[in-house]
Amino acid sequence: MNIGSLSSATFRHPQRASLQAVEETPGLEQVTLSSGPTPPRVTPDASPAASLVGGPLAGPIVIGHRGASGYLPQHTLAAYELAIKQGADFIEPDLVMTRDRVLITRHENEISLTTDVAARPEFADRKTTRQIDGKPVTGWFTEDFTLAELKSLKVTGAPHDGPEFRIATFEEVLDLVDRTGRKVGLYPETKHPTHFDQLGLSLEEPLVQALRRRGYEGAEAPIFIQSFEVGNLKELNQITDLRLVQLVEAEGYPADSPVPYSQMLTPAGLAEVATYADGIGPWKGQVRGTTLVQDAHSQGLLVHPYTFRAENQYLPPELRGTDPSGLGDLESEVRSYFEAGVDGVFANHPDLAVRARDKFLQARP
Ligand code: G3P
Ligand code: CA
Repeated sequence: MNIGSLSSATFRHPQRASLQAVEETPGLEQVTLSSGPTPPRVTPDASPAASLVGGPLAGPIVIGHRGASGYLPQHTLAAYELAIKQGADFIEPDLVMTRDRVLITRHENEISLTTDVAARPEFADRKTTRQIDGKPVTGWFTEDFTLAELKSLKVTGAPHDGPEFRIATFEEVLDLVDRTGRKVGLYPETKHPTHFDQLGLSLEEPLVQALRRRGYEGAEAPIFIQSFEVGNLKELNQITDLRLVQLVEAEGYPADSPVPYSQMLTPAGLAEVATYADGIGPWKGQVRGTTLVQDAHSQGLLVHPYTFRAENQYLPPELRGTDPSGLGDLESEVRSYFEAGVDGVFANHPDLAVRARDKFLQARP
């Protein structure tokens, strides 16, 4: 991954998230919607609970998953901005690389499901099949496009299509956070790091360099870097003190490791994770009815489960409404996780998770 050349090695000690003071939010630009679910009105100032971010004293954090992706197309600047406006403490950009080495925000490097690339005749010959994380994937890949070409695409996909949405660069996300006026954390995820490394398009060095240019350094910075892979986190741990989070899938193996995720969640596995990371991001089903939160905390690891979605199909049966396509009682689900001791949640509807967090804190003795 060639990230050892970035700086001298540093040593990481697992620790709980530090506190970050959050100032009042000035008004942000109003997001214009032409169709799709309408976000509830939100006040422009941060909720009282968001006056401190992270850690056992301040309360759990709300991470705007792919932005406020329950309301706007994921990973667009509009979705991130709405998440900030709704009081999210952190916004979550998934990162992949372009052919000309620009970090952009996409959940996948294959972009036919989230852009109109398949309808663009000039790009037809770039359709190909590639092994991604050990599986064949057919489509169009960001590593075959320049930023200018990618910027010419329209972002599509649920819950809202619109020609105004374009692929965002990581620099544009940093600009957005800079001009927000309150401290909003970043929670970037490196997607397919081994794949990009094999292409000579490593994600980690540009990511750390971009963050360093903006002043993100040290374990107090309002940032977590996350990955489902292991090797890149271990290497990141050698070059930066920024906090790192090991993501854990519901089953299977990391793309770069023969150790199954299930083993990662044993006490011994958590102790190993704590040698290079500050937290875990488990699938929320791995938290329910288990001792995972306590086990992770005993290793000094934060616990930020994913993904909390308000649509009925993603909720436990007892929290679903009658309309199959409607929204259920996400607040109750999120609150139950806070009561179970998690340190934060990834939420597609940040406003609802913030409301749940505020009620949880108000009820706390
Ligand atoms: O990073 C937390 C969560 O986003 C992991 O799942 O697939 O949505 O990136 P995914
Ligand atoms: Ca993610």
